[in-house]
Amino acid sequence: MKKKMTVLDFKKFKEEGRKFTYVTAYDYTTASIVNDSETEVILVGDSLGMVMLGYGSTTGVTLDDMIHHTRPVVKGAPDTFVVGDMPFGSYNVSVEDAIRSANRIIKEAGPDCVKLEGGVEFADTVAAITRAGVPVMGHIGLTPQTTSQLGGFKVQGGTPAGAAKLIADAKALEEAGAFSVVLECVPSVVAKAITQALTIPVLGIGAGPYVDCQVLVLQDMLGMFGDFKPKFVKRYAQLRRDMVEALNTFHRESLDGSFPSPEYSFNAKVEGYS
Ligand code: KIV
Repeated sequence: MKKKMTVLDFKKFKEEGRKFTYVTAYDYTTASIVNDSETEVILVGDSLGMVMLGYGSTTGVTLDDMIHHTRPVVKGAPDTFVVGDMPFGSYNVSVEDAIRSANRIIKEAGPDCVKLEGGVEFADTVAAITRAGVPVMGHIGLTPQTTSQLGGFKVQGGTPAGAAKLIADAKALEEAGAFSVVLECVPSVVAKAITQALTIPVLGIGAGPYVDCQVLVLQDMLGMFGDFKPKFVKRYAQLRRDMVEALNTFHRESLDGSFPSPEYSFNAKVEGYS
């Protein structure tokens, strides 16, 4: 059985050059499947807005939505480090409000840390939440909550100035006390420079092979989410196709009477009935 990672292990893994993996889950059953695998970390991401709730972006996800989905994941994955995402609007009003939101996620859902998007501009918030006793994972590069400011879902850090800004963001988060940083949609060479510059792990999604940990949205990597497929997603299974096939087999067998056979029926004799 795998041993659950702690916040301290993140630094240790980095020091030892040990790689690990990180996927999303938003419900009990999926979390329990991830818990049975060798995956070390689960993110209850606000991507649930798009993947689970059918929204066009993540900005409509509320703190209550995140707590509602994080609670069953914590229950389903007792051997896996669970990250609770802070949704848009839950940490950008004031530092006090951000601490209050982080406290709610930890107290009401029980993940091992929170994650929030933003670099230098949010370093004070990261420091304050960390000081308040909640470990914080940063998230820079393509930050889905603010794609309207970034001009859409685009690769970040593709110019010398953009790359320098990302390195400054990553450093600011590390100095503020973040124990790890997600780097999303960044050229591999820039991700490599950031990974080498930090003493905390860099968790890459669309950030190439040189980062400390690879991240994917589970419904993307298992071929369940069909609306679109980002370039960086490798499909390790075709569950959407398999699920549709299974549903069609159930439909056919139910209509032709081959389901339920005696094996799937209660066959007790009942007097007066035949
Ligand atoms: O919400 C999410 O799934 C994320 C990942 C893209 C890292 O933040």
